[in-house]
Parts: sequence; structure tokens; C-alpha cells
Amino acid sequence: MVELRIILVGCGVVNLALLKIFLKHRERLIARFGLNPQVVAVADSKGVVVNEEGIDIAKVIKIKKNNRSVIEFNELGKIHHDVIKAIESVDAEVVIEAIPSNINDGEPSVTYIKSAFKHGKHAITTNKGSLALFMSPLLELARYNDVMFKFSGAVGGGTPMIDFAKKCLVGDDIISIRGILNGTTNYILTQMQKGIRFDRALQNAKRRGYVEVDPSIDIDGLDAACKLVILANVAMGKKVTLAQVKIRGIREVHEELIKEAGARGSTIRLVATARDDLRVAPEEICVNDPIAVDGVLNAVTFTSRYAGDQTIIGRGAGGTETASAILRDLLDIRAGMQILGGGE
Ligand code: HSE
Repeated sequence: MVELRIILVGCGVVNLALLKIFLKHRERLIARFGLNPQVVAVADSKGVVVNEEGIDIAKVIKIKKNNRSVIEFNELGKIHHDVIKAIESVDAEVVIEAIPSNINDGEPSVTYIKSAFKHGKHAITTNKGSLALFMSPLLELARYNDVMFKFSGAVGGGTPMIDFAKKCLVGDDIISIRGILNGTTNYILTQMQKGIRFDRALQNAKRRGYVEVDPSIDIDGLDAACKLVILANVAMGKKVTLAQVKIRGIREVHEELIKEAGARGSTIRLVATARDDLRVAPEEICVNDPIAVDGVLNAVTFTSRYAGDQTIIGRGAGGTETASAILRDLLDIRAGMQILGGGE
């Protein structure tokens, strides 16, 4: 059984959920998939701890539950302050990066991903900012360095929207994408429909771990726009970035508007659309529209030339859900490594 050595960058809800899966379900991962993940470095916002024998995951989970940094506990391993140096120097096959998205310049996610590639490591990210700004150059750099780059958790949480478009619809020509790509705003709009005020709905979403560190990224439609850019690149072959999306968030959606839509058999949702151009805006849509989902659900309809409309629905945010996407990516990478290495 070959171990897959992992450098984990970021210790928020997503990577912690992943660690919990590793801890609780290692036997199943090994028995079912032959996947034996060994976490050899963990970075949080203060620094990084390295242990090439494997880090005590249970201890990391406990430390983070108490809001402490991994670098306060040298029994975990060697403490470093430079995450980039750790990515470069620690022996590992995969870097998993799930730090908060930066939609201004993608940093430090972009530098972490590039460092991984340049040092022959495969990378998985859930980072929407870096992808929406630099997807093409990052994919090119991965190819140049002969490593794999996966990001299925960046869109749809645990719902395999990217994989559905790329793998299930492969060969077809996707001509439009229309969907609900942000769990937080969909949750808020659904709660407002039930008479709950915006502020309280936002607090509820925060408690459930859906909201970005900067909530305006969700509320102002930027998160949905990033995801639309990612989908338009992978599913439609467009070479677009965030700057090309026309964006309006949900701040102007008041309870009255939602009530009036309800009386017409409709609902208000933040809809992301890619056809000739890309836009995100609140829209009144019929409750029977397959993308008119409730709560944290995301939904996307891909319209393709031959297969017509296909809609995929699932939970669009949450730690465990997104960790499920990272697992998918890890297994893809492992399969790719076996092909490259001629199998185990
Ligand atoms: N803040 C994001 C959302 C998290 O609400 O959809 C998942 O990308």
C-alpha cells in the first residue's frame, strides 16, 4: 500500500472536515480505494508544522477546535514560519490548498499553487479567487511541470458540477450555463421568503459555515461570478476572467420584492448565466424552474448542442461537502499517478 503524502495548506472548515474524514474513515478509504493519505505538513494562518512520519491528525483537529495555531504545539512536528519553503522542501506528492479566497490578486493561493507545481507536486485547490483570476496560466504551468491540478471543490461544494460538464458531457458542445452557484445567498433568499430578516439569515448562514471570511464576496455576487468564470473556462472553453462578468448581488432584494414574486408563483434567486457573455444578478424565476432550489443547494443547467438541457443539483457549500470534492480530486490524482507510473 503506497501512502499519498499531503501538505495541507489552510485549517478552516473545509480542510478540517477533510482531516475528520481521514481520521474516521481511513479503513474505508484504504479498503475501497487503496487510498492511504499521510498528512506530512499542516499550515494555518500563523505558520506550518512538518512531520515527515505523519502528523497526528486528531491532535490538529483538537487544537483548531480550541482556536489555537498548530505552531504552538511542537509535539506535532518541526515548526516553520514560511509556508512556501515548506511546500518547496517537504517530501510530498500533493498540496491541498483551502485558504480564504482573495478576489483582488489571488494571493497567497496563487504563489502556493505555483510553488507546488515548480517543485513537482500535484495541487488541489478550492480557491475561487485564484482560479477566477488566473485559471489559464495556472493550468499551463501545471502542464509545463507535468503535474496534475484539480479544483472540483471550487464550484458547487460537494456537487460535481465541474466533473459533470468535463467528463459526463465530454464530446458535446456546451452552449450555455445557467445556475445558482452561491449557497450563502440562496440560503439567505430562502430564509427571507419565510419572513426571516436579512441580517438574521446571514448570521444563520455564518453559523453553518457557508459564508466567506468577507461576507460581501457572497452577498455582492462575486463568489457566484468566480464560479461562473471557472465553469465557463472548463465547460465552454472560454478564456475569461472575473473582470468580464457583469455582477449584481442581492443587497437590493427586499422582502416586498420576494413576497410579490411569491404571489406570481415565482421566487427571487441570484442567477449566474454564461452564454455569449457572463452575468450574475438577482432574477425572478418560476418555482418550477429546475434551478429554483432552496437553502444552501446549488443547481446548474448545462445546455449542450446534442444532449439538450441537463441540470445537476446538490449542496453548494459546507465543510464536509467540499471535503468530499477534495477526496474526489485526490482519487483522480492517485489514478493519474498510477497511469504515469505504470500502476502499482
Ligand atoms: N461562500 C460559498 C457559498 C462557499 O456560499 O457558496 C462555497 O463555495
